Amino acid sequence: MHFDDAERIAVYGRSGSGKTAWLKKYIRGKRRIIVFDPMDEYHEMKTRIVHSSRGSLEEVRAAVLDDPTGFQIAFVPAGGKEAEALNMISAMLWEGMAGYRAARRKWERAGAKRPNGSRAVPKVHLVVEEMNLSFKVHGGEDRAPAFADICSRGRRSGIEVAGCSQRVKEVNTRFRGNCSKVVVFAQADSLDTKAAAEALFIKPGELEDLQPLQYIYRENNTISRHEIKFKKS
Ligand SMILES: Nc1ncnc2c1ncn2[C@@H]1O[C@H](COP(=O)(O)OP(=O)(O)OP(=O)(O)O)[C@@H](O)[C@H]1O
Ligand SMILES: [Mg+2]
Repeated sequence: MHFDDAERIAVYGRSGSGKTAWLKKYIRGKRRIIVFDPMDEYHEMKTRIVHSSRGSLEEVRAAVLDDPTGFQIAFVPAGGKEAEALNMISAMLWEGMAGYRAARRKWERAGAKRPNGSRAVPKVHLVVEEMNLSFKVHGGEDRAPAFADICSRGRRSGIEVAGCSQRVKEVNTRFRGNCSKVVVFAQADSLDTKAAAEALFIKPGELEDLQPLQYIYRENNTISRHEIKFKKS
């Protein structure tokens, strides 16, 4: 048994470029997922919870506790309450992963060995669709402090965050600055292209010929080009 780092993954691209398609592929096969789903597009998840002022966090908690090793939850926040809702979910996850963090600290103190073939203790995956709605550049960390904490201190937390936004510049730096993986689809204009190229550490010209569903991927300092393919039905 060993513990992997939890990462932050950013996905950027104009409308229809492929962000949701990428995120849906990313969660495929993962067992513990909460999708923060403002546009209500994840009907394939096992549990769908629509935000109401009362009780919806308890519904999330109950769905997690019902099967802690295998939950797939789409949480649809109320319009205008995205930051508060993301904060609520983040605080719950942080609290719920206290045992994971304690076990990980113990493992690190004991020398943090990763024997060949050992299995990673499973992480939780928090997918944040349209992060520009819930974690804004201005005031994002004040309105969603628990999410800001996961962004900056979450490496050992077991909470992996993948978030998307059409524009790089509309996402709070607490998320942007802590991403080890960046996925960039076609951009809307040259300003967005410039910002996205900076997020990848490449020249803007390299982004100009991207077609929908084509993307450039950076993992730390390694860059590669990819395309999402769908099986013909
Ligand atoms: N299962 C599928 N089979 C074939 N095409 C698909 C499938 N899912 C999505 N697409 C196509 O992939 C393209 C990208 O769509 P996607 O929803 O990922 O865009 P997006 O970047 O999330 O846009 P937005 O910002 O508007 O949410 C669209 O043209 C969509 O029709
Ligand atoms: Mg989308």
